[in-house]
Amino acid sequence: MSLPRFLAVVVAAGSGERMGAGVPKQYLPLAGRTVLEHALQPLLDHPQLERLVVVLAADDTRFAATAAARSARVVTAVGGRTRAESVAAGLAELADAEADTPVLVHDGARPCLGRGDIDRLLAAFGPHGALLALPVRDTLKRAHADPPGVTATVDRADLWQALTPQAFPLGPLRTAIAAYGVDVTDESQAMERAGYAPVLVAAEAANLKVTHPGDVELAELILTRVRGRGAQ
Ligand code: C5P
Repeated sequence: MSLPRFLAVVVAAGSGERMGAGVPKQYLPLAGRTVLEHALQPLLDHPQLERLVVVLAADDTRFAATAAARSARVVTAVGGRTRAESVAAGLAELADAEADTPVLVHDGARPCLGRGDIDRLLAAFGPHGALLALPVRDTLKRAHADPPGVTATVDRADLWQALTPQAFPLGPLRTAIAAYGVDVTDESQAMERAGYAPVLVAAEAANLKVTHPGDVELAELILTRVRGRGAQ
């Protein structure tokens, strides 16, 4: 019996303003390639991947020069002002696929995803979908700003950090993003509002999102020392 196939949408249309690097964070150099190329690699390497949509900014000039752009399984779409608009643009490219096909939505700024996390996510996939997440490890403080100061300690017992990829059935995800995408920060939130109860899959802490200066060095260490994916 052949294993079920999956689709993927990788969003890389953001400007990455928090990095202050002058180049969108998905294109920062990392272990001989770019952050985005590393984010795509474990999905492209997966034997069950059927098709992958990379969602790019309208003025993107960099992706076309990458090896991934030449893959027969890769198509591109133009993103929107918000992450949810970019996800919707990616899903629109998959309109001809079966509604119950799993679609994995992944951040183009997460370069350290491992094969084990993809496989655990696919194994947990069901009608409500599933997402990679990390149980919160540290004590959490609620704060006021300027200067930041503690106003309360938050019970972390039932708190998880949501990561990507997040896997949902294509049809319900498209409907949920169209209905609730305006102010959600991940796909799970749109599905939750539509009445679904996605499964949390404990992820590797290595699956970080490049957000602040310094994250690239950490990602480089993980890729070269843990994943064995150096310059190629
Ligand atoms: O800014 P943030 O870290 O939340 O972005 C997460 C991912 O969403 C990044 O890969 C970014 O390129 C993508 N994104 C997008 N379209 C937007 C905003 C963010 O594709 N309008």
